[in-house]
Amino acid sequence: MTTPEPQPVYLGGPRFQTDPAELYREMRRDHGAVAPVVLDGDVPAWLVLGYRELHQVTSDPALFSRDSDLWNQWDNIPADWPLLPMIGRKQPSILYTVGARHGERAAMISEALESVDPFELKGYAEQIADELIDALCGKGACDLIAQYAMLLPLRVLARIYGFADAQGPGLVSAMNDMINGREGALEGQRHLGGSMFALLAAKQAAPGPDVVSHMLANRAGFTLEEVAQDLMVMMAAGHQPTADWIGNSLRLMLTDDRFAASLAGGRHSVGEAMNEVLWEDTPTQNVAGRWTSRDTKLGGRHIAAGDLVLLGLAAANSDPHVRADTGALTGGNNAFFSFGHGEHRCPFPAQEVAEVIARTGIEVLLDRLPDVDLAVPAHALSRRPSPWLRGLTELPVTYTPTPALGATR
Ligand code: HEM
Repeated sequence: MTTPEPQPVYLGGPRFQTDPAELYREMRRDHGAVAPVVLDGDVPAWLVLGYRELHQVTSDPALFSRDSDLWNQWDNIPADWPLLPMIGRKQPSILYTVGARHGERAAMISEALESVDPFELKGYAEQIADELIDALCGKGACDLIAQYAMLLPLRVLARIYGFADAQGPGLVSAMNDMINGREGALEGQRHLGGSMFALLAAKQAAPGPDVVSHMLANRAGFTLEEVAQDLMVMMAAGHQPTADWIGNSLRLMLTDDRFAASLAGGRHSVGEAMNEVLWEDTPTQNVAGRWTSRDTKLGGRHIAAGDLVLLGLAAANSDPHVRADTGALTGGNNAFFSFGHGEHRCPFPAQEVAEVIARTGIEVLLDRLPDVDLAVPAHALSRRPSPWLRGLTELPVTYTPTPALGATR
């Protein structure tokens, strides 16, 4: 008698929030390296949990394509499907562009981001971090997510992209309203869209030494609409995962004894904590996705042409085939999948920009509030309910109140 195939796993629900690592272990035990899953509305997909299998998928963009038009489920997708903003059809941004055109588009973005001087970037990040800490250092207590991590990345990105400093706080609230998806989400989206088109028009008329001017000067035939779409991706894809990288790293440093001593003692372990987070608690847990361009086999499974294949970045990072369970820190090893892999991975210069913003944000905070400590027991901290991006809802802390430094140090 053969054992019946276990049911597909619903990609949602509380366990992605409370204990995803155990859930991925169970999925691997029950289904192997490629698990059948269902999304909201019983929509079927595959989640790639194996490191080798994820490498195979991300290394072959012709077979595992970014072209969502290939999807064999479009007839079953209602117009108000909640995942449409993420798994969209015919979205004109870089995310859904394939082949040579994708390469040109990725190069436009990479070259523009490479033009950013890393020392200047660090300087901006320090200045904005100081300004945000000035607003909370006298209080003795705050929520480091809402009052710090969620305010920093986009402020810095807005500056390097070419927005005027005065626009920074408005762009950050518009983006956070849009991400929260509640009241103010549409207004937030309108504000961001309007500000971006105004920036593109201003930089067309008078280019400067900023990322947007570089994109416009090097746009390889892309329309203004396409550049605007990519700018939106660079704002949204840059803001939330970098904020979560800061939040998840601070949580690790404030809760894990292996880092606790170094909080007071120095900053050498900031990089270690950030690297550990990318392996164990990465901001982008699962990515949607790829669509198969023909029938194929993956991890021993038959995948039909047009099936949706989701990238299980967090699960692949913890695949026992590549990770020995020694409990040791990951040190400088960066063979994780946390920025994706292959042609559609997070562009290398974007990874470097994110690293500078996150590391500077954490260092300035520890510098300014050296006795920062959790205000609640570690087990009371909770995550946002999402199988996609993993971040804290709040990180309440206390510290000795100190006076503000003023706008510059
Ligand atoms: C300055 C901050 C960042 C910027 C501007 C940025 C920008 C981008 C862009 C433009 C893409 C699309 C690449 C393409 O389709 O070819 C991308 C992909 C991606 N980014 Fe980033 N990103 C940033 C930070 C991060 C962070 C902090 C993480 C997670 C730790 C992350 C994870 C990813 C992943 C996993 C993908 C690949 C998605 C896939 O394979 O389909 N990014 N990013």
